[in-house]
Amino acid sequence: MNLRTEICSLFAIEYPIIQAGMAGGITTPELVAAVSNAGGLGTLGAGYLTPDATRDAIRKIRERTDRPFSVNLFRVKMEKEDSRTTAVQENLMPIYEELGISPSAEQPEVTDHYEKQFDILIEEKVPVISTTFGVPTQNQVNRAHGQGLNLVTMVTTVKEAIKAEKVGVDAVVAQGGEAGGHRGTFEMENRRGANIGTLALIPQVVDHVSIPVIAAGGIMDGRGLVAARALGADGIQLGTRFLNAVESSADPAYKKALLDSDEESTEITTAFSGRPARAIRNRFMEFLKLNEIEPLTYPIQNFITKEIRAAAKRQGKAGYMSLWSGQGNRLIKNGQTADEIVKEIISEAKKTKSKL
Ligand SMILES: Cc1cc2nc3c(=O)[nH]c(=O)nc-3n(C[C@H](O)[C@H](O)[C@H](O)COP(=O)(O)O)c2cc1C
Repeated sequence: MNLRTEICSLFAIEYPIIQAGMAGGITTPELVAAVSNAGGLGTLGAGYLTPDATRDAIRKIRERTDRPFSVNLFRVKMEKEDSRTTAVQENLMPIYEELGISPSAEQPEVTDHYEKQFDILIEEKVPVISTTFGVPTQNQVNRAHGQGLNLVTMVTTVKEAIKAEKVGVDAVVAQGGEAGGHRGTFEMENRRGANIGTLALIPQVVDHVSIPVIAAGGIMDGRGLVAARALGADGIQLGTRFLNAVESSADPAYKKALLDSDEESTEITTAFSGRPARAIRNRFMEFLKLNEIEPLTYPIQNFITKEIRAAAKRQGKAGYMSLWSGQGNRLIKNGQTADEIVKEIISEAKKTKSKL
């Protein structure tokens, strides 16, 4: 089994290891550049960034590495309003009060920056453009390819993978249900996402597309890399493993919650953003459940919980933060640099291969 795979030549990287773009500031330019400098592919999570902030972060990455890197964008339908907004804010009053804050009087911020961000990625010649929640347009694919740039889309079903291949992306990240953070599922009819287990999803996607497949969801170490290769994937994408990296800006209370968690700690919730995401169960999630509060649609729920999450961060209260995490959390190690993580995964993978 070869660890130098098709995605290594496609993306011009040494190792088939991608650090997931994680929107919300965790994937600092330092983290992205460190992963790329280590021979993997670092990804900036630009989902919540403005176009200017996206350009700024790209330039900061470039100051730190001359290796290829990726930027991940949200290709998502932005609901403009939800008639239950005031009612849900009222239901959340005990939490606002506990944190000593008031609900925002502003209109929810629902601007969709995707098109402008995509233009910036082309202008800045970002080597790998990644989308989640949907595929880029045909025109965007053509423009990216015209500049020699690669495209990747997150998928959670075979149907989505086929759709992504059809539009012309160069690889798909198949995200299994174990994954931390948001489900990349395109259509959200059931408000839970697809959640097919990684072990079941990868070979089925591999059998139905001819572009490289990257496995994601619960993969934490070299054993996971070898397993993903055995299932036919050309590489792995990891989010949770990088949250406690030295270069990650995850809040200290969040990093501690991750270290204190185990494989039973997470569940899928729409409580924080309105879209399903896997997170460590906490007080905020329990409060919504106990009080039978049905979260608003995305991104309105994300907007109304923003102050709660920000206050929780200021006050070091993990109970009110969105503690995104996958199910492999006993395998998190604290205090490693991104370089150490990438090198460790490769050396473990080599050992695992020789044992098999
Ligand atoms: C904190 C966090 C934030 C995430 N944010 C994004 C994101 O902005 N865009 C995206 O495509 N995936 C995002 N994901 C999902 C990852 O792309 C990936 O599918 C997932 O981390 C893989 O599972 P793992 O966490 O078990 O490694 C996020 C994951 C985490 C843990």
